Amino acid sequence: MIIVIAGLGLIGASYAEGLHAKGHTIYAWNRSEATLQKAIDLGFVQPGSIEETLQSADVLILALYPKHNTWFIREHRAFLPPGLIITDVSGTKTKMMDEIEAILPEGVFYTSHHPMAGKETSGFDVRDPLIFKRANAIIVKGPASGPSDVLVLHGLLKDLEFGRILETDRQTHDALIAFTSQLTHVLAVTLVQSDHFDETAKATGDSYRDLTRIAKINEIMWTDLFLMNKEALLDQIERFEEKLAEIKLMIKEEDRPALIETLRTAKEKRLTFDNIKDEDI
Ligand SMILES: NC(=O)c1ccc[n+]([C@@H]2O[C@H](COP(=O)([O-])OP(=O)(O)OC[C@H]3O[C@@H](n4cnc5c(N)ncnc54)[C@H](OP(=O)(O)O)[C@@H]3O)[C@@H](O)[C@H]2O)c1
Repeated sequence: MIIVIAGLGLIGASYAEGLHAKGHTIYAWNRSEATLQKAIDLGFVQPGSIEETLQSADVLILALYPKHNTWFIREHRAFLPPGLIITDVSGTKTKMMDEIEAILPEGVFYTSHHPMAGKETSGFDVRDPLIFKRANAIIVKGPASGPSDVLVLHGLLKDLEFGRILETDRQTHDALIAFTSQLTHVLAVTLVQSDHFDETAKATGDSYRDLTRIAKINEIMWTDLFLMNKEALLDQIERFEEKLAEIKLMIKEEDRPALIETLRTAKEKRLTFDNIKDEDI
């Protein structure tokens, strides 16, 4: 297929390299032209003007931050041919999908998706198509989805060696992601921010290291993602606060049976999660 990728950061460049390796022809657009040139020199992106390559493309993958994805569509609206399938890899969906659908030309299809894989670091130089191997992905259809979008996306995700693929709507995606991804980043950052010891580096074991790995965060991107999904994220933070208050009270009141029960059921839930993961991939 002829694929145009807008944005050669961590995810866009990893898609470009991985999809080129599977025989697709990749063209790209990137804000920094030096980065685009690097990809062309490395041979996994072909040279060509964005206006011309969009005309012949089968698929356009938006791999910019959500608000820049909308900007890209607005800027290049006149060059999007009927029948083109647009998708994006953004971490939040509702606001951005609503905005993109409102400006899409007639006859252009749009189905979003979200690769549930990444790194703490960002940018072209840390690209690695292997991060997608066996990872989950979520496909989000909408009113502009075309008849073959889901099939085409499944094919591309298979080429990138993703594992399980969930199909859902934008609101469910954003609620799920607020819990599985955004709340976990909020917790990691809060844990690091609450560190008031001088000796932490010398006194940590795996627990602190594991729980705070994702605090090495891309602060610009995650600020955008948190604010774009504000309502769903606040809902998850409040649910978490309730659970934290419950366990705090158990400790304060030395409620040993309640604590044991909470730890036991959490362990069971976590083990079930491991088992589902292993069976399904
Ligand atoms: N990182 C993850 O773990 C992860 C996982 C799943 C999905 N995603 C999604 O993937 C998308 C890209 O994330 P990423 O991690 O690949 O980001 P990244 O490595 O930081 O790359 C950002 C990309 O956006 C471009 N960009 C930045 N500011 C811009 C601006 N003002 N105008 C135009 N272009 C601009 C950058 O261009 P330059 O090269 O010129 O800086 C680069 O191409 C996001 O929507 C994110 O939600 C990320």
